Amino acid sequence: MTLAVIFDNFFKSSGGLQFVARWLHVLSGIAWIGLLYFFNFVQTPAYAELTPGARNEAFDKLTWRALWWFRWAAMATFLMGFAMLGIYSSDSSDYITKYTGPSILTGILFGVTMLGNVWMVIWPNQQIVIASVRKQLAGGEADPAQPGAAKKGARASRANTFFSITMLWFMVFTSHFAGRYADANNELNNVAIYYVIVLALWAFVEANALGLIGGLDSPFNKLVFDDHKKTIIYGFVYWAVIFFVGWEVILKAS
Ligand code: HEM
Repeated sequence: MTLAVIFDNFFKSSGGLQFVARWLHVLSGIAWIGLLYFFNFVQTPAYAELTPGARNEAFDKLTWRALWWFRWAAMATFLMGFAMLGIYSSDSSDYITKYTGPSILTGILFGVTMLGNVWMVIWPNQQIVIASVRKQLAGGEADPAQPGAAKKGARASRANTFFSITMLWFMVFTSHFAGRYADANNELNNVAIYYVIVLALWAFVEANALGLIGGLDSPFNKLVFDDHKKTIIYGFVYWAVIFFVGWEVILKAS
């Protein structure tokens, strides 16, 4: 039976465990990012058009359920990705030191930031919003902290949408295209310079999204995160800068 080969070298890079983890990683990844795009492209503009009563009902019944799938899909994506990383890097240190390293570590930098934004910013702030909404549905007053919490969650959610474009590029790039940029020893040039530039670009956007540079309404946040269409456009610009400057100019070995 051909499927039995899944048990050959089960725990190795070429084995079945990495393959099953890869499958579950992408499956949970589409559940996570699918809901992220639903929140940003469908729910937010639709809720802006609902009456306050209808919006509160929808938060209570729809958003609450969606957030369960959203945060646990994010956790499952991370755990399966982490399992793959463990298998590859314990099998061979080349995975991080050769051309695959800068590619997957760039993807993981954005993926792990997105996970942190889900669990440490979006979810706690949405709990404040939904608790306040439920108080209102029961005839009480809104929590004065609700608008501030909604804004914090919204900025982190837009940052995740923005990062997702670059994140997914490097997830798929690692096994399918990054090798074309390497030399005969599977190595790249100027790796340290590349990491410094990527970290600076990452820190700038995440610090803005958290309100650490000029507050939640900083000029960058208003320009890039207020309108979801602009988030998509600037998300592609950001990917282009990281990819073309990073890979075509800095890392490319030949
Ligand atoms: C949260 C942290 C994440 C970690 C630690 C992680 C880790 C990894 C690793 C180690 C790989 C294997 C790369 C290789 O082929 O050598 C990978 C591939 C991949 N990841 Fe992630 N990932 C994360 C988030 C995500 C997210 C959010 C998505 C969204 C869909 C995603 C989608 C993918 C895809 C599509 C692949 C490529 C599968 C293939 O080429 O066969 N990852 N990831």
